[in-house]
Amino acid sequence: TWTMAGFRDMEIARIRQQVGKGRVICGLSGGVDSSVAAVLIHQAIGDQLTCIFVDPGILRAGEADEVIRTFRDRFNIHLIHRDASDLFLNALEGVSDPEIKRKTIGRLFIEVFEEEAAKLGGADFLAQGTLYPDVIESVSFTGGPSVTIKSHHNVGGLPDRMKMQLVEPLRELFKDEVRELGREMDIPEAIVGRHPFPGPGLAIRIPGAITREKLALLRRVDSIFLEEIRTAGLYDAIWQAFAVLLPVRTVGVMGDGRTYDYACALRAVTSTDGMTADIYPFDMSFLNRVAGRIVNEVRGVNRVTYDITSKPPGTIEWE
Ligand code: XMP
Repeated sequence: TWTMAGFRDMEIARIRQQVGKGRVICGLSGGVDSSVAAVLIHQAIGDQLTCIFVDPGILRAGEADEVIRTFRDRFNIHLIHRDASDLFLNALEGVSDPEIKRKTIGRLFIEVFEEEAAKLGGADFLAQGTLYPDVIESVSFTGGPSVTIKSHHNVGGLPDRMKMQLVEPLRELFKDEVRELGREMDIPEAIVGRHPFPGPGLAIRIPGAITREKLALLRRVDSIFLEEIRTAGLYDAIWQAFAVLLPVRTVGVMGDGRTYDYACALRAVTSTDGMTADIYPFDMSFLNRVAGRIVNEVRGVNRVTYDITSKPPGTIEWE
């Protein structure tokens, strides 16, 4: 009978066979797929694997630290951490078009990754956390609809010029199977059970041009929302939950004074594949509590709204 432990052992043998004594590099994002791929490959070939974690400066609060702690300290994986936040944030300065944000971020990820790979003296293999649906989707794209709603830049990977063979140990799995495999290998639940997070990160959750100040506000709002969701035991019932910092300031009242600060939107949806989504029906008392905390704790944000648009016609992200 087929078991996840059996699959893991078979994949480990297959990776060893494919890689031999070669060197493998893997881009680590902190998401489920690249995390599980990295740990699996590490179990197969140990220090022949080097992971490269590019911190683009548009991650949520605490995420970069968590990646380093988990992979370097807990799993003993050779991990290169490149803090590229200045590079990314400078390149994004004044950029307000969502597709230009995506293209800029996608291009920089590749550039920085290549730079770090070159510093290592290159590698023979490139590991990717490609899943079965990614394989199917990229095939159907050729004959698929000609309308691009959003260009997803972490799909498709690196340019041909990198000339490495691919190691893709998850390419037969669906997302829930990847999670199961991750649990089988003792990857912490905080990573294995994590909501999807887009490659362009918080940059597409700040409509208009992003600034360091806006990023800092959004991180705090987002943390409060997620913390309350976890405390209420709702995290696993939700596909994705996040905050959006709106490019508008509104009038409020705080104590005896008038405020004129940013408004934010909260979004939480259920979905099975991200293609369609329904809003999560929070209790009003929950939303009330979250709104109260945000306005009281995040100076600079004085209004909270809840996005009640399903997909379609809305998309999950605002950009
Ligand atoms: P939308 O907003 O299109 O999102 O309804 C569907 C799913 O895709 C994620 N998403 C992205 N992921 N790069 C990514 O890696 C992107 O550019 C991107 N845009 C959206 C979104 O978070 C949701 O899970």
